[in-house]
Formats: sequence, structure tokens, C-alpha cells
Amino acid sequence: MANIYSRIAGTGSYLPPNRLTNQDLVRQLAERGIETSNQWIVERTGIHARHFAAPEVTASELGVQAALKALEAAGVPASDIDLIICATSTPDMVFPSTACLIQQKLGVGGQAAFDVQAVCSGFIYGVAVADAMIRTGAVRRALVIGAEVFSRLLDFNDRTTCVLFGDGAGAVVLEASDQPGIVASCLHADGRQSGILCAPGTVSGGSVLGDPTVKMDGRGVFKLAVTVLEQVACEVLQVAGRDASCIDWLIPHQANLRIMHSTARKLNLSDDKMIVTVGEHGNTSAASIPLALDHAIRNGQIQRGQTLLLEGVGGGFTWGAVLVDY
Ligand code: UT7
Repeated sequence: MANIYSRIAGTGSYLPPNRLTNQDLVRQLAERGIETSNQWIVERTGIHARHFAAPEVTASELGVQAALKALEAAGVPASDIDLIICATSTPDMVFPSTACLIQQKLGVGGQAAFDVQAVCSGFIYGVAVADAMIRTGAVRRALVIGAEVFSRLLDFNDRTTCVLFGDGAGAVVLEASDQPGIVASCLHADGRQSGILCAPGTVSGGSVLGDPTVKMDGRGVFKLAVTVLEQVACEVLQVAGRDASCIDWLIPHQANLRIMHSTARKLNLSDDKMIVTVGEHGNTSAASIPLALDHAIRNGQIQRGQTLLLEGVGGGFTWGAVLVDY
């Protein structure tokens, strides 16, 4: 029997309309007595602006917009999808899953739907799981979404985190194919490092216990991120039996331009082979990679036939990579 692979049939993304430049944010924070500057944010992160969802807008609402665009690009009706995976760390509710709420908003039912929680690596985890299920023949078409309203988790009195993140969503339709598609994927986690990036609150008896806003040891995360992103890039290339010269586009998690440049350098890739949207989106956690992917496909940077290396890293600590022949 011929091997089954999965291929990207279509992508979509969505940003909420409220765009805040660094200057807007610096002004708002100054009113609270929090001192920061456009210069600090740009020099340390590469971020110039981010989008924030209106208070009543949820992750599933951003996610369904991205999903509809991905379905349209793939030319596939929602009823032909066999599996919906949503990567999010800012779900609408404790339950049901954001994937089920997106399914409801798409007006369909019956197919499997669940969330993955791997924070900024969540989309990579979701794609790897969907790819595995397509390869076994369990499903033929999967919708994988990364959707975040990360602004909800921010403490606007903590300048070390609140300037970094934004809201948004991205999605891909994966479908079974006799050609790859997804060439290889590698996932990792190290729960011993859970404390360096966390939102350590929970719900109990109708109240929030602990502090559910983002806490980050920025330097610790930075150091670990540059190490594991290089390791997992080499690993996924080795699994695929290829070397870095096959990569047309590096699409790393969009958290910090300095981390992204460091990864490209270690792979001997020139900066113009890297998709960069962090400047305009900020860090949108699980949404960052599908947002970057969709933007680069729609603006013509990424073309069919090219090879893409997608890489995620984030809370958990989690990290992973997916090599794609697009
Ligand atoms: O999405 C998951 C993955 N997350 C990441 O990849 C994030 C990884 N980490 C980072 O991107 C960087 O560590 C940060 C951007 C968070 C911070 O950059 P850094 O170069 O590591 O700065 P730092 O934490 O070492 O802080 C340098 C200085 C400190 O002042 P002192 O102690 O040197 O006087 C901070 O207090 O910058 C200060 N600082 C700020 N100053 C102005 C921290 N935040 C701000 C701010 N505005 N917003």
C-alpha cells in the first residue's frame, strides 16, 4: 500500500482590528506610572506594534476567522474536515475546548475536536499530531488552528512582559496526499523548567487561586530558546535525511528578533530566508507561526514547491519543529 502523507492545502489568519504601536503602549503605561520606551522594546525584541482583541472577543472568535480563510484557500467546506485541533493557552472557557467552540461557530459537528496546550509551541504540537493521524489513515483532512487572546494574561504593571505579547489567530488545512507534505516533525518538553515561563493561577470553588498573569524569567527563556531551537532544527533535518541547505524559509516562533537571528545564524541561513512578523504582531504565542506562515504565503514570499522549517518554543518548557515541502 502506498504511503500516506499530509500536505498543507490552505492557510488563513486573522488579527483583531485594534493595533497598538509601541508609542501607544508606552503612553498608556506611563499613565500607570510604568516606565518603558519604544527604543527599549525595538532594540531588545524587534517589536513595533501588536494587536489587542476587544474585551468581549474570545480566542474561538479569532480562531474561526482564521479557520474560514484557511478553508476557503484550501477550497474545502468545513463539513469535509475530519479533525479540528486548536492550540491555545487562552481558551474561551475551562471547558468545552476552544476547538469545539470553533466547530460550533463553523456550523458543523461530528468530527473530532480538541485543544492542545503547549503554549507557544502549541501550533507545532497540533500539526505534528494531525500529521500523525493523517498518516495512519484515521483522518483525511484536519484543521489546525493557533488562536490566542494573550493580552488577557498580561499584567500591565509588569513592563518585562506586557510589552511583548499580542492577540491573533492562524490556521492550516492539512490533507492526505501520496507526496509529502510534512516531511518530518520533532516534539520535546522539559517540565522541570515549568517555572521560567508560566501563568500560575487556577480556578477553584468559583474563585481564581494564585496569579494567572504571565511570569517570565526572560533571560532564562532566551538562553534555553536559542539552545533548543538549534538542536531541534538539526534533529528534524536529520530525521528527514537532509541538511539546512534544503530550507527556503525558516518560520520560527515570533517572540524576539534576536532569538530568531541567532537561530538563522546557527543554521547558516541568511536573514532574508527568515519570515519575520514579530515586528507587527508581537508575540502571539500559539498563533505566531500560522500567522507568519499565512502572511508570507499571501504576500508571495512563500511559493509552492519550497521547503519550510517551522519552529516553536515556549512555556512548559516545550519546543518542536516541522519540516514541510510546501
Ligand atoms: O514566547 C515564548 C518564548 N519567549 C521568549 O522567547 C522571550 C525570551 N526572552 C526575551 O525575549 C528577552 O529576555 C526579553 C525581551 C524578555 C528581555 O530582554 P533582555 O535583553 O533579556 O533584558 P533583561 O531582562 O536582561 O533586562 C535588561 C534591563 C533590565 O534593567 P537592569 O536590571 O539592567 O537595570 C530590565 O529591568 O531592561 C529592563 N527592562 C526594561 N526597560 C524598559 C525590562 N523590561 C523593560 C521594558 N522597558 N519594557
